[in-house]
Amino acid sequence: MPTSGRTRARGSTPRSVEPVPLSESPAVDGKRLRTGLGDVDLVLGGGIVPGSVVLLGGAPGIGKSTLLLQIAGRLSERDHEVLYLSGEESAHQVGMRSRRIGAAGDVGFVATGDLDRILAAIGESGAHVVCVDSVQAVTSPGLGSAAGGVAQVREAAGAIQAAAKASGVAVFLVGHVTKGGALAGPRTLEHLVDVVLHFEGQRAGENRLLRSSKNRFGSVDEMAAFRMEADGLRPVEDPSSLFLSDGVPQSSGTALAVPLHGSRPFPAEVQALVARSRFANPQRISTGFPPRRLAILLAVLERRGGIPLGDHDVFLNVVGGLRMTDPAADLAVLAALASAGLDRSYADTTAFIGEVGLGGEVRAVSHGPARVRSARSAGISAVVAPRALGGILDGRAGDRPIGHVSEIRSLMDPEGAT
Ligand code: TYD
Ligand code: MG
Repeated sequence: MPTSGRTRARGSTPRSVEPVPLSESPAVDGKRLRTGLGDVDLVLGGGIVPGSVVLLGGAPGIGKSTLLLQIAGRLSERDHEVLYLSGEESAHQVGMRSRRIGAAGDVGFVATGDLDRILAAIGESGAHVVCVDSVQAVTSPGLGSAAGGVAQVREAAGAIQAAAKASGVAVFLVGHVTKGGALAGPRTLEHLVDVVLHFEGQRAGENRLLRSSKNRFGSVDEMAAFRMEADGLRPVEDPSSLFLSDGVPQSSGTALAVPLHGSRPFPAEVQALVARSRFANPQRISTGFPPRRLAILLAVLERRGGIPLGDHDVFLNVVGGLRMTDPAADLAVLAALASAGLDRSYADTTAFIGEVGLGGEVRAVSHGPARVRSARSAGISAVVAPRALGGILDGRAGDRPIGHVSEIRSLMDPEGAT
């Protein structure tokens, strides 16, 4: 393959390859553009890297355009040239919105989805940052296939990526993702772009999370929390009570986890519902928690905790549209399932911290003290934590060390069903 005529025809003989010592390659940190908007810079790994392409994905209506407009406004307030190109909305619509949320700044706007104009904006306008809303709305007569189709979206993104690299202009690409997440479009672009951001939350609710699943210039562990209000997205400084329903109800099937989001732990509410199944293969439906992990915890609960749910449909939901992958959330999920299975609630508003092993043992987790502090600051009165973590609990009423899942029952309200 390397010796094909096509490669040779590009005019480079092997000797024309001139390596640059990696130690002399330019550092990007000094050149990052900062938005100053909540924790957006943190999620980006310290700011926007010139020449990079950032894909901003999320469900339609979740607030991607609002977020991008606010980012654009902040950048322009900081004297960066910003262009906002929309193939979805008119200057009138976007102008009204940006005035309402106070994000107008000096952002230049063009209502276009035409690929050639987008490439010209990146290559010739002198802007530092170009926002393209959305990649599905990009059209080009040259590309042939229909706007929004997989092939066209990928080709458009490829051309945009090349233009960004060549010019050093940073580009934000908005991409719509359907509810299932598996969509022609953004998913197929993930390997093409430098950073993939997800804007999540429940459309009806006001809480939003920004996180990354890929970042060539930083960690993917950080997140930024926002609240969608009448005048735009407001950064949430302390997300510790963001994913708790008001005055967390003490109903059966509810338990609190304290998972890590990036480097910060904060409480999240887990709800489980079980019902006798009409099917030979009972349903297991999990929202916000890995389904395989749920299957394992159900087996542990049956074999080690003595609560069989094999002939029940099981529904699990992490409140607020949060995705919870931290193993330290195991114990809370198991606690919610046990509570739903027995139809008994816990005596107090209780946070459960711990990883669950196949033997039913509750394992120590990282960041124990920080998790306990976070639960306290959210007003949670009782914390159940792995015995293996020793003295991280400060002995408040309701606090309990736990070593094995069989102890879960003893934490429930003796008054019985709720
Ligand atoms: P939008 O940014 O248009 O979503 P997307 O680009 O992801 O499709 O925002 C969608 C919703 O956000 C809209 O239905 C109304 C709501 N919203 C507010 O609640 N407050 C606001 O200030 C703005 C601009 C939007
Ligand atoms: Mg939009």
